[in-house]
Amino acid sequence: MSEPSRETWHRRVIEHRSALLAILTTVTVSIGGLVEIVPMYAIPTDPTEPVIDPYTPLEVAGRDIYVREGCYNCHSQMIRPLRAETLRYGPWTRAWEYKWDRPFQLGSRRIGPDLQRVGGKYSDDWHWEHLKDPRSTSFGSIMPPYPWLETDKVDPADVAASLTALAHLGTPYADTSEAGASKAMAEQSAGIVERLAGKGVTAAPDLEAIALIAYLQRLGTDGKRILSEAK
Ligand code: HEC
Repeated sequence: MSEPSRETWHRRVIEHRSALLAILTTVTVSIGGLVEIVPMYAIPTDPTEPVIDPYTPLEVAGRDIYVREGCYNCHSQMIRPLRAETLRYGPWTRAWEYKWDRPFQLGSRRIGPDLQRVGGKYSDDWHWEHLKDPRSTSFGSIMPPYPWLETDKVDPADVAASLTALAHLGTPYADTSEAGASKAMAEQSAGIVERLAGKGVTAAPDLEAIALIAYLQRLGTDGKRILSEAK
């Protein structure tokens, strides 16, 4: 069977001329870009936009662990303004909720659920069990276990370094010292350790899992609170 002739005008005039094809492709793709970019700059930003508090030192430590372990490879942190998403995850994510997210953890795939509003969804001890062995809380989960988070400790020097870097980028941290970070982390982790103890889990306050739980429990909570107050 011979190849049917497809010498259409499009092929003759455009596709056979690579330079012209490149230019027209650029123009076409730019239209798609402009449709998204122009409104973003044209719509005035709301000066009453809420400003949320920066992450605490313990949450910064947890966030660094989240990045180190590559949790973003399976989890997104962005709820799209679509009904199916808001029914499952809650209010869609607003831009101001990312105010202190450096770097962003939007993610690019959802192998697991979106985590942008996971804060408060589960108890601390649920997270503790889930991190150690996801299949113990979630039947058939394909999330890998992270048992080392429950033996390895957070180094306050690393946290102080992160706080210093974030302060340099504009996050208003008054105290970026190692001593300051240690003190703030001890205060916040005590609450988590106590709640875990209430469920029969004995955990040292400086474990990596405690920091990660603090971070997870913070996610999306400011937005949820502010958006429900605005209603
Ligand atoms: C290989 C992909 C994968 C990786 C990597 C991964 N997860 Fe998951 N995660 C999942 C899947 C799948 C689920 C759903 C089943 C379950 O609950 O375990 C899930 C569920 C969760 C949930 C419960 C979400 C909800 O709303 O029910 C949390 C919290 C979570 N993961 C945190 C993490 C953290 C923190 C890390 C990094 C330390 C991580 N995950 C790494 C796949 C992954």
